[in-house]
Amino acid sequence: MSPALSQFCYLVSAVCSILALRGLSGPQSAKTGLYFGVAGMALAVLTTLALPGVDAYGLIILGILIGGAAGTVIAVKIEMTALPQLVAAFHSLVGLAAVLIAGAAFGNPEAYHIGTLGHIHPGSLIEMSLGVAIGAVTFTGSIIAWGKLQGVITGKPVVFKFQHPINAGLGAVMLGLIVLLCLTQSAFLFWLIVAIALALGVLMIIPIGGADMPVIVSMLNSYSGWAAAGIGFTLQNPLLIIVGALVGASGAILSYIMCKGMNRSFFNVILGGFGGEVAAGAAAKSDKPVKIGSADDAAFILKNASSVVIVPGYGMAVAQAQHALREMADQLKKAGVKVRYAIHPVAGRMPGHMNVLLAEANVPYDEVLELEDINRDFPQTDVAFVIGANDITNPAAKKDKTSPIYGMPILDVEAAGTVLFVKRSLGSGYAGIDNELFFYDNTMMLLGDAKAMCEGVIKALEH
Ligand code: TAP
Repeated sequence: MSPALSQFCYLVSAVCSILALRGLSGPQSAKTGLYFGVAGMALAVLTTLALPGVDAYGLIILGILIGGAAGTVIAVKIEMTALPQLVAAFHSLVGLAAVLIAGAAFGNPEAYHIGTLGHIHPGSLIEMSLGVAIGAVTFTGSIIAWGKLQGVITGKPVVFKFQHPINAGLGAVMLGLIVLLCLTQSAFLFWLIVAIALALGVLMIIPIGGADMPVIVSMLNSYSGWAAAGIGFTLQNPLLIIVGALVGASGAILSYIMCKGMNRSFFNVILGGFGGEVAAGAAAKSDKPVKIGSADDAAFILKNASSVVIVPGYGMAVAQAQHALREMADQLKKAGVKVRYAIHPVAGRMPGHMNVLLAEANVPYDEVLELEDINRDFPQTDVAFVIGANDITNPAAKKDKTSPIYGMPILDVEAAGTVLFVKRSLGSGYAGIDNELFFYDNTMMLLGDAKAMCEGVIKALEH
């Protein structure tokens, strides 16, 4: 393939990637976005295979077969709730690839047209060393993130004395070594930078609590993009530069949105020490009585309502209750009840968690509304049906300045006529704090597994 044609194909592929991101920004257009992504990536791979100088087809096909088979098995087997750690594991591979490519280019610069051994162009050396440093941080950082989310490593923040100064010091040493490397082209310095960056990846992520991991995974996603972009310069591959920058920028924006949804500052998350996952939270304490209802009570209240807003949260995902929930909503709609779903930006454990589950259960998109579009409707709503959600409804976010979630936007479910709360206990959620809403006069707790409760309500509605 001629260089001009390959550049053109890469450009088309980059445009496909941009259209993919655009499509993935909304549930209706997500499928089209996905097709654009697949088409763009297929074109990129085929173009690369057709480049002059690419001839180890046997090895490449073997790699595609092994990687493709592993990817297919993982995609078929993976549980929705395990997606964050899977994403972290994949990012570690992007980081590792950046390190290996930079290592190969440093050891054999002629093959990459960036100079000769010991005489690599200074610009290429800067790009390469930044790419390798970010790649190595991403590699070990993502492995730690995976370990924390998978429960292999403790989800609690691992903190020790002088942690932040040590990290800052290592970062400064690494930058100094990059300057030295550019001046001396020493292989020892190159691998020393890799070693420090690998250590920094571990040290940066261990103080962060398991609960903050989704933000960190998104941040590492951003890092992996910048590492790819850096290596794109080394390989003089415009597609890698564009796609790397897209991943880098979108990961950074997503991290920002997640922090905003949790009312945490990005630096506060990075500096760590918050949010060791609370397993089964201690039950909320109050002198007030708590109203506990049954599926029959819930069915009675729901069918006599004229409008119901369903608020799903992490517990719905754990219980895989989305199908039963949609069936329940269908029955209510048949009975003339207006049913809508309210989605908090950080409901569940990853961005879009609830949207994906509801889409899987074929909930119509126009019934699913974001926080800012539905919050003002709660005072005119008869029933808020909160299923497996907790923190995202907690009024402490508005009232209690000492609360760790103070300032986080919440869904104002308490303004509805009745709040039905489906969860297994009076225990806390991810932030590990009590929710006084359980004790409000207009709240009825439906204690039990989310899926079993929906099935119970469906049965009761049938009678
Ligand atoms: P949480 O506040 O974590 O509450 C989930 C509730 O689900 C728990 O209180 C639990 O109570 C209940 N539950 C668990 N398993 C259940 C089951 N099988 N059946 C019924 N209920 C079950 O979740 P949320 O309201 O969705 O809030 C999300 C939290 O995660 C926020 O604090 C947010 O900041 C944080 N977070 C979110 C993200 C993203 S991007 N989504 C990222 C990082 C952190 P019981 O144990 O009593 O059943």
